[in-house]
Order: sequence, then C-alpha cells, then structure tokens
Amino acid sequence: MTKDLREEPVGKGHDLTMTATECQTAKEAAAAPQTTKAPADTPASDHTPTGNTPRMVGIRRLIEQVAAFTTNVLVTGESGTGKEWAARYIHDLSPRRDKPFVPVNCGAIPPDLLESELFGHEKGSFTGAIAARAGRFEVAEGGTLFLDEIGDMSLPMQVKLLRVLQERTFERVGSNHSRQCDVRIVAATHRDLEEAIEEGRFRADLYYRLNVFPIEMPPLRERVEDLELLTGNIIRRCADSGLDPVTVTPAAFRILRHHSWPGNIRELSNLLERLCVLYPGSDVDISDLPARYTADAPVRESDRQQIHEAREAGPLPQDFGLPGEDVTLKEYLANIELSLIRRALHETEGVIAQAARRLNVRRTTLVEKMRKYGLN
Ligand SMILES: Nc1ncnc2c1ncn2[C@@H]1O[C@H](COP(=O)(O)OP(=O)(O)OP(=O)(O)O)[C@@H](O)[C@H]1O
Ligand SMILES: [Mg+2]
Repeated sequence: MTKDLREEPVGKGHDLTMTATECQTAKEAAAAPQTTKAPADTPASDHTPTGNTPRMVGIRRLIEQVAAFTTNVLVTGESGTGKEWAARYIHDLSPRRDKPFVPVNCGAIPPDLLESELFGHEKGSFTGAIAARAGRFEVAEGGTLFLDEIGDMSLPMQVKLLRVLQERTFERVGSNHSRQCDVRIVAATHRDLEEAIEEGRFRADLYYRLNVFPIEMPPLRERVEDLELLTGNIIRRCADSGLDPVTVTPAAFRILRHHSWPGNIRELSNLLERLCVLYPGSDVDISDLPARYTADAPVRESDRQQIHEAREAGPLPQDFGLPGEDVTLKEYLANIELSLIRRALHETEGVIAQAARRLNVRRTTLVEKMRKYGLN
C-alpha cells in the first residue's frame, strides 16, 4: 500500500484562478513577473510548470493536491517537456522541501552499477569498492528521489526497486543489514510503459506501484499559447545567469507558434539562450531566427519580406537547412560566407585584420572577398 500520510494541510481545494492574462508581446512577457500565481498558501517554488492553457492549469492543480502526501508520482511526456521541472515542483511544494531532492538517471547508469548507485555498498563488496558508500536512497532520506528514465531500468533492478517500494527497506550491496527509508518516489519516462509491459520489458506490478498518481506533460506544440509566458521565464533565467536578454518581437512569435518543437521546452530554452548570445539586448525579429524556424511556417504577407531578407542574408552558421527551391548551392554558400564575414566584422568593430583572424583566413583573402560582396 502506498503510504498516504497527509503531512501538512496544503494543497487541497485551492482557488487556482490565474491572476494575469496571456501577455500580448514578448516585451510584456519578459518584463512580467510569474503571471501564473499559485494559491496564497502554496510554498514558493522556482519550478512552477508555466502556462495558462487548461492542461497546464490542470497539471498544477494535480501537483498541488498530491504534493503533501508521500504518494508515488509517475511523470510522463516527450523529451524536454519539463518532467524533471514538474518533479522539482512536487518536491518544493511538499513538506519534504527542506530535505534533499535527489535525481538519478536510470538510463545513464550502467545496469550493473545502478544497484550500488541506488542502495550504496559496503567496502570490498565488489572490485573497486575501496570504501563503503551511501546510495541515493540514503542521500534522499526524508526527501524526494527522482527516478528519471525509469523505462530504461533493467528487469532485475525493477524487482529490487519494487521490493523497496513495498517494504520501504533496502540493503547496501554486500550487506545483510536492512535499512528503513522514508523517501518519496517521483519517477519519469518518455517511454510508453504500457507498451513496454506488453513487450515484457517492464514489470506490470512495478508500473502499478509507480503509477499511483500519473501526470502527463503535454508537448509544446499542443500548447503554443504558452510560448510567450515560457519565453518570459526562460529569458529572465538567461538574464539571471549574466546574459543580456533579448526581446522576441510579436512577428517572430507568430513564426515560432507554427514550429513543431520536437525538443519541446528544452529546444525553446536552447534557442533563446543562443539568441541572447548572438543578439545581446536586442529585439529578435523573424530575420534573426534560424532557418529551420522560418522554413515551413505559413506567414503573413507583411512578414514574408522579412523572411526573404533573412534568407538573402544567409542562415545562422550553427543551423544550416537545405537551400530553398529557387536557390542554388553556390548562392546559398555565398550567403553563408557573406553572413559570416559580416558577423566577424561586426564582432571586431570593422577591424579587418582581427576579423580575418576570427575567420582563420589571410587578411588579403578577406579584403578580396569583401570587395566581391561590395562590403568596402
Ligand atoms: N516552466 C519552465 N520554465 C522555464 N524553463 C523550463 C520550464 N520547464 C522546463 N524548463 C527547462 O526546459 C528544459 C527541459 O526540462 P526538463 O529537464 O524538466 O524536461 P524533461 O522532460 O525532463 O526532459 P528529458 O526527457 O529530455 O529528460 C530544462 O532546461 C528546464 O530547465
Ligand atoms: Mg529529464
């Protein structure tokens, strides 16, 4: 049985009314404080799953209801949808918030090392065990253990984990001494565990034990209305880490809303960080977006000219897409070359010798190319 001990009276029956409507422009979004306010008695968290779409409001409500219990939670969703973020929100809202949140990526640790990683080992219990070591369960005592990529766990380890979940005791590798544990489990996977069960790769009994409280993080393409809010949050984080924040224009947002976001929030976060590096403190318009964001987007006539100009100027060097239908490879490469020369000159404030060094070409070569492109 899952221990449903209510440890603190937070969460249930809260009024989850949003306090602000969706921001109209990126500027507003970037300047706005966290617009999706949690109920007054919800503890503060830096990991609120952002969004005003009904699904995100529902997810916050679920988390706020379950946080106070030791109930196991299973967070599912595509890569980059914010599963770990949601797990941290559960922890931050729980009475365990002052104890450790310990993430373990079950898919990244070789199966024969995972047991010792989770349960610890005694000195000499296997070759290389030169000292006794506490496992993640011990480190997480009183707090939350986040078992990421649980779908990648080997079947023998699944049996061992199931036992801990049932009995709340475990032994270090090489020891007979059973240790009690008080750890809240939040597991996550991007895999379809029901399919894995059918294929014999995942134990049904473990699944039911973990899936007491399922939370499914939606892909970003199904909640593009939240793009501005997410962008505001991410850009604020970029600013906190010392980057000079950009402002994404409404026209650029119109384009971004049509992107399929296969990498979800992680992709958005990487894009914004890159834009802050490339265009510190500037407005980011359609022409500044990498080609893959503009390539297939249905665009307004007024935006079309900008995209055309962006293609003329060449794509960003980190993000080559295939040339458009009416562009030859030669023209395409020339555009890239021109774009790189412009950027090098911009970075070096027009000092040709420095720009040449930056591009790793001789000064005379650069001068020749600048003449060819009419840059002098
Ligand atoms: N609400 C949010 N606001 C700002 N950034 C967020 C938010 N949610 C997630 N992120 C960021 O997006 C990225 C992906 O989030 P997270 O690691 O939680 O996703 P995931 O679903 O666990 O991904 P994966 O399946 O690849 O492990 C992280 O860099 C995280 O910091
Ligand atoms: Mg993750």
